[in-house]
Amino acid sequence: MTTPNAAAAGTFKIGGEIEINRLGYGAMRITGDGIFGPPSDHAESIRTLKRLPELGVNFIDTAASYGPDVSERLIHEALHPYDGLLIATKGGLTRPGPNVWVPDGRPEALIADVKKSLRQLGVEQLQLWQLHRIDPKVPRDEQFGVIRQLLDDGLIRHAGLSEVSVEQIRAAQAVFPVATVQNRYNIVDRTSETVLAYCESAGIGFIPWFPLASGDLAKSGSALDAVAKTHGAAPGQIALAWLLARSPVMLPIPGTSKVKHLDENVAGAAIRLSEAEFAALDKAGRGAS
Ligand SMILES: NC(=O)c1ccc[n+]([C@@H]2O[C@H](COP(=O)([O-])OP(=O)(O)OC[C@H]3O[C@@H](n4cnc5c(N)ncnc54)[C@H](OP(=O)(O)O)[C@@H]3O)[C@@H](O)[C@H]2O)c1
Repeated sequence: MTTPNAAAAGTFKIGGEIEINRLGYGAMRITGDGIFGPPSDHAESIRTLKRLPELGVNFIDTAASYGPDVSERLIHEALHPYDGLLIATKGGLTRPGPNVWVPDGRPEALIADVKKSLRQLGVEQLQLWQLHRIDPKVPRDEQFGVIRQLLDDGLIRHAGLSEVSVEQIRAAQAVFPVATVQNRYNIVDRTSETVLAYCESAGIGFIPWFPLASGDLAKSGSALDAVAKTHGAAPGQIALAWLLARSPVMLPIPGTSKVKHLDENVAGAAIRLSEAEFAALDKAGRGAS
């Protein structure tokens, strides 16, 4: 069998500058239960990360809060010095315990998160840093102002946002150039359609997290099955192929802790849906949400 390659997904330039293959990887799942602590199988997590460049995956999503710290440290262990890879990280969320996420958007907290990510990843500049959540307890312009400062100081090269509305993106753009937006989106969860449309019009990379609905879309028993059968593919591969076909600014980051699943997901990048298949899936997905 030939090795799958993420290049089949086509490319996108982050911030109009850093070219990546559009099918990326989410590194949240290489941590412990509840995205807390070390993974149950450290060796397989490292193998999964080391497999990424072999598959042409050069866009890796992580966050200081994944573990916390665990995901960034594993990425460093497996992939430093990241030749040809874009490691995108996030800050602004604290982790009091498993499955608990608390925003902290105070300027000093955001700066501390960026400095910690720089140390943990072992780099002098973060190529893409995203505000994990706008903290409702802190004026948003203060948070955006810190991002502007981090860009001006060169600690981060490009900046993005996560879980935001069009109105929030516009407010941020008045302060700094928004390179990416990361919102929950998949074929059966279409609540961010207006944000996707805005990103497309503004040339902002749209990173749909939860692209496989936490693995549910990789199982059989959904509207994806019939199309999957036609292509001799797994349902999750069709979910990813659909996302890639949905928009040229779509940058899916399916998360997995297993080499086998990674190989399968990347192979989805080469699947070309017919117009009729795309439309039928689109309709079924909208009906499901
Ligand atoms: N900005 C945000 O607020 C935010 C929030 C959540 C996530 N994210 C990012 O988005 C990424 C993706 O989201 P996600 O990880 O929550 O959800 P996802 O990618 O939709 O699903 C990941 C789950 O699917 C399973 N899976 C993956 N490939 C599979 C395959 N081929 N066959 C069967 N099961 C498979 C994984 O289990 P195995 O490990 O067993 O493969 C994992 O449990 C994360 O890794 C993270 O980087 C961002």
